[in-house]
Amino acid sequence: MLDLDKIRSQFPSLSRLHNEQPMIYLDGPAGSQVPECVARRVYDAMIHHNANRSGHFATSHEVDQLMQEAHVAVSDLLQAHDPKSIAFGPNMTTLTFHFSRALARTWAPGDEVVVSRLDHDANYTPWVLAARDAGAILRTIDIRREDATLCMDSLRSQLNSKTKLVAVTAASNAVGSITDVCEIARLVHGVGAELFVDAVHYAPHRRINVEAWDCDYLVCSGYKFFAPHIGVLYGKPERMQSLVPYKLRPAPDSIPGRWMTGTQNHSCVAGVTAAIDYLASLSTLDVASSSRRARLDDSFAQIERAETELIKQLIHGLKKLESVTLYGITDDDRMHKRAPTVAFQVRGLDSATVAKKLGEQGICCWHGNYYAVPLTTALGTDTEGMVRIGCMHYNTSQEIDRTLAAIKGATTR
Ligand SMILES: Cc1ncc(COP(=O)(O)O)c(C=O)c1O
Repeated sequence: MLDLDKIRSQFPSLSRLHNEQPMIYLDGPAGSQVPECVARRVYDAMIHHNANRSGHFATSHEVDQLMQEAHVAVSDLLQAHDPKSIAFGPNMTTLTFHFSRALARTWAPGDEVVVSRLDHDANYTPWVLAARDAGAILRTIDIRREDATLCMDSLRSQLNSKTKLVAVTAASNAVGSITDVCEIARLVHGVGAELFVDAVHYAPHRRINVEAWDCDYLVCSGYKFFAPHIGVLYGKPERMQSLVPYKLRPAPDSIPGRWMTGTQNHSCVAGVTAAIDYLASLSTLDVASSSRRARLDDSFAQIERAETELIKQLIHGLKKLESVTLYGITDDDRMHKRAPTVAFQVRGLDSATVAKKLGEQGICCWHGNYYAVPLTTALGTDTEGMVRIGCMHYNTSQEIDRTLAAIKGATTR
């Protein structure tokens, strides 16, 4: 069991009051709260190890070292065997745009690129534009409207020998639906294509395993998993070496440097390592005798258990409210197929009005489409938007009770 008191004491923001009530952070899908150890590591890097890389002096060596540690830490988080398969960048969107241009150079007119309606626009539009520039044909995987999950029949029907790339999310940032990345990779590789996975929403909730999943590329974003604003790109090392990136001439030709455009945000990258250490510290396994990977396995098993309880409580409570329409998986026995993120509409109220009422009571949640436009368009929720509540392992059952009461108040007034 997670020790919630110990966990919450590490996040200074969780003790903030709003109108004399504790703030409740249910805006995790837009950015998690940050434990103090992460901010301290960023501070330490900025104050004590501030230099550019590859110089012949102490602080430069220290930055080389902290970057190396971060590549190793992220390879532990993603379960990649080679730390050089991990590139850092400003955020997922910028990395994806950058990478899509390089990948699109390998496509020819008539090739096919497949995107999905379950995705955030950051794993949709970069591929739409790259396909357009290459003269490639764009195909789209549909969702099952009844539970807002990816339609695997639709996926199968979009694949053929001309498919070059499939871009799909590991979990929806709007409705929480988790996709079967292993099975998708098997189908995609079956037609000789590659798979690019958006794990931004998945990363704080479940254990990623790029090697077991056999995805070719995967992206995630630090600020969603308790780290600073840093994007992460994984690619199979042989592909990251053979593809030709858009890069400056003096920049390294070797991986991962060839994919890391310009000077990196070294101090925040140090914060990514601290966040991964924080996640590993949630494990009860002995630090001296277990690897960080083993501790992360244990931590994520505990995170999943704790978050499943919260999301069940939230969904049960919302189901009792007659004016609420829930999107996504709601049955108890399919909770393992969803992240703890719920989207709903309230009859007669647009999502911004509901979010504002909750915000006035110190409850942070999102409204609108949160850039998941392919999905919200498919669901037909664009006009009013959907209220989104996202649980994190630091949330409590009491917070969910208070939130349900606030939603009930907003819907009945
Ligand atoms: C699922 C998903 N993908 C991609 C992104 C974009 O990430 P970034 O802000 O790092 O560009 C987000 C951000 O909300 C997201 O939730």
